[in-house]
Amino acid sequence: MQKLIIKGKKKLSGSISISGSKNATLPILAATLLTDKVITLKNIPLVQDVHTMINLLKFIGLNIEISKKSKTLKISSNRKLKTVAPYNLLKTMRAGVLVLGPLLAKYKKAKVSLPGGCAIGARPVNLHLFALEKLGAKIKIKNGYIYASAKDGLKGSIIKFPSISVGATENAILAAVSAKGKTIISNCAIEPEIQDMIIFLKKMGCNINFVGKRKILIIGTREFKNIRHEVIFDRIELGTYLIAAALAGKKIIFLKVKPKIIETEIKLLKKMGIKIKIDKNKITIFESGKVNNVNIKTAPYPGFPTDLQAQIMILMLKASGVSKITENIFENRFMHVPELRRMGAKIIIKKNIAFVTGPTNLSGAEVMATDLRASVSLVLAALIADNRTVINRVYHLDRGYENLEKKLRKCKANINRV
Ligand code: UD1
Repeated sequence: MQKLIIKGKKKLSGSISISGSKNATLPILAATLLTDKVITLKNIPLVQDVHTMINLLKFIGLNIEISKKSKTLKISSNRKLKTVAPYNLLKTMRAGVLVLGPLLAKYKKAKVSLPGGCAIGARPVNLHLFALEKLGAKIKIKNGYIYASAKDGLKGSIIKFPSISVGATENAILAAVSAKGKTIISNCAIEPEIQDMIIFLKKMGCNINFVGKRKILIIGTREFKNIRHEVIFDRIELGTYLIAAALAGKKIIFLKVKPKIIETEIKLLKKMGIKIKIDKNKITIFESGKVNNVNIKTAPYPGFPTDLQAQIMILMLKASGVSKITENIFENRFMHVPELRRMGAKIIIKKNIAFVTGPTNLSGAEVMATDLRASVSLVLAALIADNRTVINRVYHLDRGYENLEKKLRKCKANINRV
């Protein structure tokens, strides 16, 4: 099994280019099931989760050509699709459940495996099913599969989510855009990845518009066009490397990004005393002195993302005093803490709150992680630790970070995969 070996305490400098967003690519790929036209997608991050989604869509029957060099996908369909998503393709990636909405909208039925368990929490799909039932689907769960059908096709409806979910909002939109008539979805998630999916759907010919901050109006259609779309940059990858730069950077430049999308994160870094310069499409981080302690709470966008919680914890280890993280989205998302403690971190967990005491001098150790963002937080910790850190289970990182070692090595980090 592959490992990463990192020798810490190197000063980083240079520039890092940010890949396309994994979490925007996955629902956009699911959306291509709606159409028989040719779709060209650019700026695709070729990470494991994206390959898993491509394999699922190929299994269902789409033709997908990958150009690795230009990070482009060309997707077309010239046969009737299967309406099944099997367990072996959903057990490692929950976003596979996003094919449910489009298959149901187009073929009036779908059999999709319930996604596998997950280290960070229970992660049910009840809100996905709630939305599809509102659109007229009949749903049964049997033998680990969701059986959904809508004999006369899905019909537009009013969907008011009881709580905010990214995936359920995506599934509801992907079903409603081809349902008969008008749908209003309220209390929906408004993550930039969902907004990118909506831009994509509009280009494709869908009639979909925001009519309030968390309210979307959709008029169903089945008339689509051939289109090209460039996927938005990965704001979580950017946030991760901004934190790396704040931890160990002398001067690191991030080009072709939209700082407006990550205003919450930038504001927090400034509050922590990080020297950061914002230009229109560029961010620069300079070496900072003292880091200030802060308290944060994870929340749906535009709040602080749960997907950056493990990473910001490492910067809190450098801050003077006690910082507090309240994790409001997933119930079991402090799995990186025991490993960080082995590196010398002083962190106490009480229910969904982590109390992080700094500044601490971390020391390298052999560690392993249980999910994508937890793994990358160990990489960040290793960058500022004494000696050598060995990170096991690198496959978690490969699910969501494109060329991680290459990008860090370009900034002079001492990181190698064996
Ligand atoms: C997406 C992101 C993930 C991110 C998360 C929160 C993708 C592929 N994944 O995951 O990286 O961490 O948003 O920003 O984009 N919930 C229910 N019932 C449901 C669905 C969700 O109770 O049917 C709960 C979840 O358990 C969780 C909360 O709602 O507590 C938010 O989850 P959700 O926004 O759905 O996350 P995902 O879409 O799975």
